[in-house]
Amino acid sequence: MKQRVRLGFIGAGGIAGFHLRNLRSVKEAVVVAFADPNLDAAKQRATEVGLKVKEGKTVFADWQEMLDKVAMDAVVILSPHTVHCEQILASLKRGLHVLTEKPMVVTVSEARKVIAAAKETGKTVVVSYQRRFMSPFRFIREQVAKGNLGDLFFVESFVAQGWQRGTANTWRQDPKQSGGGFLMDTGSHIVDFTLWSVSAKPIAVTATLSNNGAPVEINDIVGIEFANGTLASIVTVGSAISFFEHYTFVGSEGVLRLEQGKVLWGKPHPQELWRAEWTTVEPSQMPPGSDPDRHFVDVVLGRAENESPPEDALKVVSVTTAAYKASARGQKVPLR
Ligand SMILES: NC(=O)c1ccc[n+]([C@@H]2O[C@H](COP(=O)([O-])OP(=O)(O)OC[C@H]3O[C@@H](n4cnc5c(N)ncnc54)[C@H](O)[C@@H]3O)[C@@H](O)[C@H]2O)c1
Repeated sequence: MKQRVRLGFIGAGGIAGFHLRNLRSVKEAVVVAFADPNLDAAKQRATEVGLKVKEGKTVFADWQEMLDKVAMDAVVILSPHTVHCEQILASLKRGLHVLTEKPMVVTVSEARKVIAAAKETGKTVVVSYQRRFMSPFRFIREQVAKGNLGDLFFVESFVAQGWQRGTANTWRQDPKQSGGGFLMDTGSHIVDFTLWSVSAKPIAVTATLSNNGAPVEINDIVGIEFANGTLASIVTVGSAISFFEHYTFVGSEGVLRLEQGKVLWGKPHPQELWRAEWTTVEPSQMPPGSDPDRHFVDVVLGRAENESPPEDALKVVSVTTAAYKASARGQKVPLR
């Protein structure tokens, strides 16, 4: 029998384009419906994938109606953050697998509910952290895991974006819909990559967050202590003029630096104590890349283990919400 995965989209905004592009080359994936309160957005996306636009059949203003009426195997959740939890739980309850955009949810208790529901229903939840599937990020994590940096002392993770002005007067700056600001949104990726690559248990968080005049946090400094002694700094700057991102992993045997997709490896200099020898890691030296959508279909079809599970998203939301508490209280917050 031909294997296929029928997918319904919950949310048809900007990021739907990324997922549809990825799914175009996944031959088992069939997109069957779109739900978005902005029905025109749903219609537009349906047209893009060559679906006949029929209200109540392929396009819906109400996502629950789509779940009621359309035969499908899985959903792709691309809505504002604070509705993710309800949509994930309802989809799992109906026996659907879930690919959800980040942040999976916005509170620790919501994350625990998702983990419990996924276990109970036996359905898959993949969180769409695309960096986990990109070669440079996979390369760095692999080197850390193999011990090639020696003891990992410090990680510096940084992202900047023109987020404050770009998202002004949208749901992203309405805490009721977003659950937070730049750290909760784009910052979720770099918190996730930091936790995923260090892999030790995060045990405490310090933070200073600034709203910079906005209704949500915009410019943030977060410190994470890990059980193995590694320290990490997460810096998210939402009031920048453009997007840029970099990471530095400092170990006893070397330094790995990732800057705008390029990886540099600093190794101890054979003669000089204070210097490193730097080389650029070529793409051919890195593991192959993929994307969350292809991976999701593979997991649903039983061809891959889930590499971005809800248990890891729980760690991200634990750190993020601890940062909110730490900043508000002016105190270090231990993690349970
Ligand atoms: N992985 C990434 O790099 C990345 C990039 C951008 C966005 N995202 C994530 O994708 C999600 C959507 O972001 P976006 O950029 O597409 O936002 P967007 O504002 O472009 O689109 C959001 C869409 O959701 C719809 N919507 C509102 N309430 C809804 C509801 N209750 N149910 C279903 N749809 C609803 C809106 O009408 C809109 O069309 C967010 O979780 C965001 O963080 C991830």
